Amino acid sequence: MNRRLGVLISGRGSNLQSIIDAVRDRRLDASIAIVIANRAEAPGLQRARDAGIETASLSARDYRDREAYDRAVADLLKARDVGLVCLAGFMRLVGAPLLDAFPERILNIHPSLLPAFPGLDAQRQALDWGVRVSGATVHLVTTELDGGPIVLQSAVPVLADDSVDTLAARILVEEHRIYPKAIGVVLDGGWSVVGRRFVRRADRVQAGGA
Ligand code: GRF
Repeated sequence: MNRRLGVLISGRGSNLQSIIDAVRDRRLDASIAIVIANRAEAPGLQRARDAGIETASLSARDYRDREAYDRAVADLLKARDVGLVCLAGFMRLVGAPLLDAFPERILNIHPSLLPAFPGLDAQRQALDWGVRVSGATVHLVTTELDGGPIVLQSAVPVLADDSVDTLAARILVEEHRIYPKAIGVVLDGGWSVVGRRFVRRADRVQAGGA
């Protein structure tokens, strides 16, 4: 698989940083071709610049509609020969032009154990529900919000005295650990999507052998 990544961000870019670090430290065999933000002031852009990575900011205001915006993003990613798109705190729904340009080639990280607590404020949702365990999920992006096939998950405890901030910080540690790992899994291939499931060849062998 083409191991050139395109990372899409909206904010601070700590997950972007975890990918930059993993590539730099050779824990992840990939390169970051471009980082695109939908806000010129996204602090994560500076992280990319500091790492010598090309950046672009595309504001939705400059496009007629959602479709035109997504097409522009897809065109830019294609122009940079990106093989896998990584959403890293990209606060926009991804529409058909992007999904069609990168079928089964867009990943997202979400701060809950999906399918629990999709959408915004996942950590607050978990606290309000009173769950004892939450975590992080990396999944393929489909038309369903936070509903695509799950590549990797990691659980963290929810503690009695947690605030949104303390829970978010505990989950973030796991996000930074599993996102580069999940990118490697996807890039290495040997998997397919079966129904809702992301099935690795190793899983199939294990299942067959059990
Ligand atoms: C992370 O919690 C991620 O799971 C969610 O948005 C947040 C982005 O944080 N999708 P950062 O910009 O990567 O620091």
